[in-house]
Amino acid sequence: MAAFPTRRLRRLRVSETLRQMLAQVRLSRWDLIAPLFVRDGQDIRSEIASMPGQFQYSVETAMETVRRWSDVGIPAVLLFGIPKVKDAEGSQAWNDDAPVQRLCRQIKSAVPELVVVTDVCLCEYTDHGHCGLVVKKQDGRKDVDNDATLELLGKTALSHARCGADIVAPSAMMDGQVAAIRQALDTNGFPDTAIMSYAVKFASAFYGPFRDAAESPPRFGNRKTYQMDFLSPRQASMESQADLDEGADILMVKPAGAYLDIISAVRSRFPAPLAAYHVSGEYAMIKAAAKEGWLDEKSAAMEITSAIKRAGADMIITYFAEQLAGWL
Ligand code: PBG
Repeated sequence: MAAFPTRRLRRLRVSETLRQMLAQVRLSRWDLIAPLFVRDGQDIRSEIASMPGQFQYSVETAMETVRRWSDVGIPAVLLFGIPKVKDAEGSQAWNDDAPVQRLCRQIKSAVPELVVVTDVCLCEYTDHGHCGLVVKKQDGRKDVDNDATLELLGKTALSHARCGADIVAPSAMMDGQVAAIRQALDTNGFPDTAIMSYAVKFASAFYGPFRDAAESPPRFGNRKTYQMDFLSPRQASMESQADLDEGADILMVKPAGAYLDIISAVRSRFPAPLAAYHVSGEYAMIKAAAKEGWLDEKSAAMEITSAIKRAGADMIITYFAEQLAGWL
């Protein structure tokens, strides 16, 4: 390559048109998956304090919202439910009449082309806020029982599939959860329901606002015995391999912005489709700074979402989905 002054890299940066023509990464509405929180009740549209612009909806207001999202070209939604009652097992998670299930049925009958992804986890449904069944270990410590939780996750995924979910997304970080769900789906007549596995999910401070939104903070301890440690990045390969072996169709890395190296590593090692989740805290930081006038919201949201795609994500789960669809 010739050196300066023959070579001037700035020549190709002179105009917006030229820059656009040469862009190597192009965000599109097809990249987007919009998360949505649904709960029991009527006419609910209550804004989540730590996530400006995001709401808890009841089923009918959620329907208006997903119709609007579909109209602006968002191809998929990711549903989270907040149940009327919580218990030790999280039994509302597999209730066919719970909010997520009812919303699934209504979306599939009214907007069938919209891809419905459902989060499969118990933390929104358990009274202790953990992602599985809590037991006392021999040393007296309380912890989530991995194997006993698998059946409950299988039942939950099956209930979502029965109500029309196209893709179930297990996020409990139990070992063997993808295999348990695949088996529950296959033996009950849902071989075509896909699994998007939260394969590479780190225990993260950036989930803080989500736990307000889903009313799901753990009542004791934290999630570090099941979610990954951000100081052990090589586990990303092992988790991805395990989930692919168990039958995952799509892998996910979460969070996204602080984990671009992980997205890039998983992308280069595995040919499977890859999703990345730009999580609640990452969204809240941009919203808060923009509100103070400390950065430009649109530029920041476009930049981080483009970076997630550049790192190798095929699908981006983001609370900015509706705004991005408008900007793109
Ligand atoms: C459920 C789940 C969580 C998120 C997605 N699914 C919370 C958690 O693990 O604590 C977080 C999403 C976000 O922060 O936007 N386990």
